[in-house]
Amino acid sequence: MTLSKETMDIIKSTAPVLAEHGKTITTVFYKNMFATNPELLNIFNKTNQAKGQQQEALANMVYQAAANIDQLETIIDEVNLVAHKHRGLNILPEHYPIVGKNLLIAIKEVLGEAATDEIMNAWEETYGVLAKVFIDVEEEMYKEAESKEGGWRGFKDFIVVDKVKESDVITSFYLEPKDGGVVPMYDAGQYLTIRVHPEGAEHKQIRHYTLSTKPNGKQFRISVKKEVDYTPNGVVSTHLHDNVHVGDTIEASAPAGLFTLTEEDAPVAFISGGVGITPMLSMFEQLIDEKSTRDITFLHAAQNEKLHAFHEDVKEMVAAAENAKYVYGYSNPINEDGEQDFNGFISKEVLENVKQEDMIYYVVGPVPMMEHVANLLTEIGVPVQNIKYELFGPKQTIIKEAQLA
Ligand SMILES: Cc1cc2nc3c(=O)[nH]c(=O)nc-3n(C[C@H](O)[C@H](O)[C@H](O)COP(=O)(O)OP(=O)(O)OC[C@H]3O[C@@H](n4cnc5c(N)ncnc54)[C@H](O)[C@@H]3O)c2cc1C
Ligand code: HEM
Repeated sequence: MTLSKETMDIIKSTAPVLAEHGKTITTVFYKNMFATNPELLNIFNKTNQAKGQQQEALANMVYQAAANIDQLETIIDEVNLVAHKHRGLNILPEHYPIVGKNLLIAIKEVLGEAATDEIMNAWEETYGVLAKVFIDVEEEMYKEAESKEGGWRGFKDFIVVDKVKESDVITSFYLEPKDGGVVPMYDAGQYLTIRVHPEGAEHKQIRHYTLSTKPNGKQFRISVKKEVDYTPNGVVSTHLHDNVHVGDTIEASAPAGLFTLTEEDAPVAFISGGVGITPMLSMFEQLIDEKSTRDITFLHAAQNEKLHAFHEDVKEMVAAAENAKYVYGYSNPINEDGEQDFNGFISKEVLENVKQEDMIYYVVGPVPMMEHVANLLTEIGVPVQNIKYELFGPKQTIIKEAQLA
């Protein structure tokens, strides 16, 4: 479906005005939508809503898409990334008209008298085009997830078969299908989207957790950090740590995500902070399994020894790999004279020692750590396209606009 030139002109001239009022529009949008469709509160992350992080992401993407409506291929990578999240969340075609209707109501409310029928029709038509793109892409993803051996569509029950403490704050959960079947193979680095109903919570809550081992066909493992640094404590991570035990059931949708290994021979650095180690473990293990000859550096930063998860596992993996080294350090070590390769945050020097020609850098950790590392990497001459990262929260960029230019 294509849009007429008149529609595109209207969209292009009104998109910047709407983007300027993004926050108001999305606030009105969510308020109205949850009032008329409270069942959606079982899908949206309550905390992201409270923090205001999610509010702008959806509407911003609609404006971005609108501004590029005559060249949607330029945003296809972004569409794919969001569609993976949507597929994990089990967003369905019937949800799109609800979002569309409420977005239009909010746009009308904000534009006031300026919202002529012509403008509103143009936005309705544009949303329809974009929604169709998402629905089609997501249907392909549902089909793909379902067609794999052991695959499925939507959510499915899993039993917690083991629960292992990995550090003072990180615990792993081993999951097997309740129906006794196999689990599908996935790409190392992908995440599992789980749905739980924490005690006392009014609604179900959905969160994504990276699969922290390579695929093995038998079970999944996720490794969860208990989020208790801020008040209120993290809803789902606290629930998993405190109330979910071996034998309990958790719902999960099939693995999703695009933060995965690329097929090439270039040297690779897995750089993580804290629980950001999870995708690195899975990808590293995958490379070992493949007997990859790639040069691998596993660089990890933890606050201290007690918060350093998977230390022994990484040592073993490095020993098993053809060509790997392990570099780790603590920002606030308990034992100042203890073993570590660097002290404090990851520095330019640490990265310069790791750097190799054409190296691909995978970076995951707390956002300030990721920004810091990405910044240093570009400073030492690493091209931005060699820096790959995943956020453990709503989308944002860790690479400054100026560096992207
Ligand atoms: C692709 C992806 C992969 C991920 N992989 C992992 C993984 O492997 N391991 C892992 O542990 N996590 C992972 N995460 C993060 C995970 O999905 C959850 O976001 C995390 O566990 C926190 O969820 P929660 O329900 O415990 O906390 P939430 O309730 O969602 O709270 C998040 C944080 O906000 C704070 N907070 C709560 N309410 C407010 C408020 N009103 N104002 C300000 N702050 C507030 C909380 O204290 C907490 O620190 C991943 C996320 C993504 C998107
Ligand atoms: C064309 C329409 C849509 C667009 C452009 C869009 C865009 C986005 C974007 C950009 C994100 C952020 C992804 C991230 O976390 O990085 C997102 C997340 C999300 N979307 Fe959509 N979306 C659309 C339709 C829908 C629909 C129909 C639903 C279901 C009612 C939905 C539910 C969600 C949820 C639940 C999240 C995660 C939010 C959270 O809980 O934190 N979206 N979407």
